[in-house]
Parts: sequence; structure tokens; C-alpha cells
Amino acid sequence: MKPPRRRCGLLAVLVALIVLASLQIQYHHLKDDRLNGDHTFATTTTIDQVQWRTGAEGLPRGIVHSHSDMYLRPLWDSGANPKNKNDNHTALLAMAVGISQMQNVDVMAHKFLNQNYTVMLFHYDGNVDGWRNLEWSDKAIHILAHNQTKWWFAKRFLHPDVVAIYDFIFLWDEDLGVDNFDPRRYLDIMVSEGLEITQPALDPDLSTDIHHRITIRNKMAKVHRRIYDSRASMNCSDESKGPPCTGWVEGMAPVFSQAAWRCVWHLIQVQILISSLLGN
Ligand SMILES: *[C@@H]1O[C@H](CO)[C@@H](O)[C@H](O)[C@H]1NC(C)=O
Ligand SMILES: *[C@@H]1O[C@H](CO)[C@@H](O)[C@H](O)[C@H]1NC(C)=O
Ligand SMILES: *[C@@H]1O[C@H](CO)[C@@H](O)[C@H](O)[C@H]1NC(C)=O
Ligand SMILES: *[C@@H]1O[C@H](CO)[C@@H](O)[C@H](O)[C@H]1NC(C)=O
Repeated sequence: MKPPRRRCGLLAVLVALIVLASLQIQYHHLKDDRLNGDHTFATTTTIDQVQWRTGAEGLPRGIVHSHSDMYLRPLWDSGANPKNKNDNHTALLAMAVGISQMQNVDVMAHKFLNQNYTVMLFHYDGNVDGWRNLEWSDKAIHILAHNQTKWWFAKRFLHPDVVAIYDFIFLWDEDLGVDNFDPRRYLDIMVSEGLEITQPALDPDLSTDIHHRITIRNKMAKVHRRIYDSRASMNCSDESKGPPCTGWVEGMAPVFSQAAWRCVWHLIQVQILISSLLGN
């Protein structure tokens, strides 16, 4: 039995953007904390004459990097990072996947790898070998842990310091239809509009899974931040401050800027799923 494929047509042109007020507040708060923290760390260097530093001071100049990345490096070759020549964004696509969605994931991974974006697959069903035949399999990073959600994986494997070289993080479900989606164009829009947390708009003709009007593609605009509806049940206007009128991104397909991810990662708790925060 082939499991039903949930189709959500994602359109690059139209981005339903939502900045979550609470996330923003938290983010600024955290950022301040972090900056203060770093400052303290950098200046408070002596405790009983012991220098509290990173531990890398003994290494020769020029080889110390403050951040990590997810680029694969062959043992026999220093392997320069695949620089994306066409644009200046680095991006990471991370998905929790099961073998039953392999066909769909294949399409998604192709789109991102073609742009030299990194692809990371979290295998929740224990089946990694089933993916080996895919031509790009060796280019992706595979992580296996049974029966975990993408938020569980993200908390443990996408620490902000580890993924700090990525400008954007796509933390997506495995069953999204990306036929009309262009990741690079999408990121151009995020950059030009200065967006921090977004999701692609859903194509009502292709999606079977539309739960909120704000997620539907608006053909008149590249980006929409709110919807308008004067019916009493919705009453969405410029005055509206929250869902269902504005301030809404679904947990299904969020895209985070690097700065937003630093905030969101801290909000993901070991037990509490951030899905509820993001509105899914
Ligand atoms: C991806 O990287 C390869 C190798 O560095 C390069 O030849 C290619 O042009 C890059 N592709 C894009 C879309 O930038
Ligand atoms: C990349 O960045 C350079 C310098 O910041 C800028 O001049 C150029 O237009 C950018 N290219 C793209 C495709 O955004
Ligand atoms: C994962 O969940 C499935 C379905 O509930 C169960 O059959 C399986 O034993 C679980 N696997 C592990 C390793 O816990
Ligand atoms: C709609 O919202 C506006 C402003 O938020 C409010 O003044 C008005 O009473 C609301 N109308 C209805 C029908 O609830």
C-alpha cells in the first residue's frame, strides 16, 4: 500500500510571512543575553591564573575556525566548500524522512542540491539503506534515530553554532510538493523583504492540506503578511495583531534566517514541541 501523498503546492513567488511577536521578543531578549554572556566570557579570563579561553590558542594561526558546517570532506582531498556561484545564500534543508516518502523527498533534495544547498535527512523509520540507490544519497547527511520528530532531531543536531554558516534553514516535512518551488528565488525574496521566519504559500489548486486562509497563495503579491476579511468570524484588518489574520507560520514548512534560528532553537524544549508555537 502506497501511503497517500499529501500534496502542498509550494510557490516561490508567494511567501506567507509571519513574524511571531513572541518569538521576536524572545529573540531580542536572548540576543541581549547572549551578547552580554559572550562579553563576560571574553573579558573574564582569569580565575586563579587559569586562562579561560576556547582551547584552540595553541593551534597555528590560520586554521582556527569559530564555526562548523555540514559540508562533506573526502579524506584524501581538502575539498573546498561548494560555493554557490549564482547567489550569496548558503542554506540547509533538514527533513525527517521515512522510506515511504522517498519519491517525494527525491524531488525536493534534487532542487536543493542543484543549488549547492546542504541536505540533511533524519531517518525516523530506521531505514537508511533503502536510500542508497538514489544518485545524490552520498551527498546528503543521514542521521538515524527511531521514531523521532523533526523537532527532536533539530534540537539535537542543528545547534545554532553548528549550523552558523548557513544563512537559512529549511526545516520541512517530507511530504511537500515542490513542483513550483524554487528555493533560490524564495531566499531572494526573504532577503529583499527582510524576512526572518516564513513559509511558502500554498497553492489551493494543488494542496489538500490547507487549514488557514493566511497560508494560501495571494496571486497579487510576492509576499503577504496578513489577510483581510471583514466577516465577523474573521474580522481581519490592518488592526489585527495575531492569528488567524497575521503572525502565523505553520510548523509544516518553516524557513528560518540564521538569526531567527538561534532564537527558535532555544525555544524548542526537550518535551514541548515547538509546533504548537508555530501554529501547527
Ligand atoms: C555548485 O558548486 C559547483 C562546484 O563548486 C559549481 O561548479 C556550481 O556552479 C555550483 N552551482 C551553483 C548553482 O552555484
Ligand atoms: C552577491 O553579493 C555581492 C556583494 O555583496 C552583490 O554585489 C551581488 O549582487 C550579490 N549577488 C546576488 C546574486 O545576490
Ligand atoms: C517505532 O514505532 C513503531 C510504531 O509505533 C513501533 O512498531 C516500533 O517498534 C518503534 N521502534 C522503536 C525502535 O522504538
Ligand atoms: C473588528 O475589529 C475592529 C478592530 O479590531 C473592531 O473595532 C470591530 O468592532 C470588529 N468588528 C466585529 C464585527 O467584530
